[in-house]
Amino acid sequence: MTSKLTLGLVIVSLITALTFTVSTTQIARADSDKHEHGEGHEVLEHNMKIMGSAFRQLRRDARSKKFDNSTLKELARMQQAAIIAMHANEEEHITKKEDVIQYRSMMADVIKQMLDMEIAILKGENDKAAACVDEMNTLMKNGHNKYKD
Ligand code: HEM
Repeated sequence: MTSKLTLGLVIVSLITALTFTVSTTQIARADSDKHEHGEGHEVLEHNMKIMGSAFRQLRRDARSKKFDNSTLKELARMQQAAIIAMHANEEEHITKKEDVIQYRSMMADVIKQMLDMEIAILKGENDKAAACVDEMNTLMKNGHNKYKD
């Protein structure tokens, strides 16, 4: 009877220990996933999504070289999102001075194209506005090759 009780206690303790180990491992894994993928990138991710959706319209309009007020509205949305993205370097763990300069310079080059594009649209220089979209596309690819997973 006593040995049965001891065996029972040993089994219960083993199960408790095993459950504890599994759950702490899962917590640790969730924390590291959070760090490497999803959370911690909210500001950059949110603003890149805005840039992505605005850029879709810019590309569409550049194909027909027809720009109007709705292009300008999307462009303004994209400019504001890009300024925020430019300063969200820490979310990507970009903190060394020379790395910050490189990251912000690449983002600034995209923003310069957005500003040139705005003025070109206002002046009715549609070829120039379309060329800005092509240039932004190249800069986006360079930025993503360097910084995006
Ligand atoms: C025309 C310019 C650009 C557009 C339209 C654009 C668009 C996007 C889009 C749609 C995403 C995916 C967002 C998501 O659903 O998770 C993204 C992610 C990202 N982009 Fe850009 N991008 C541009 C330029 C750049 C530049 C120049 C850089 C770097 C200097 C950059 C760095 C990143 C990074 C690091 C991510 C991953 C963000 C994360 O941690 O989730 N992008 N971008």
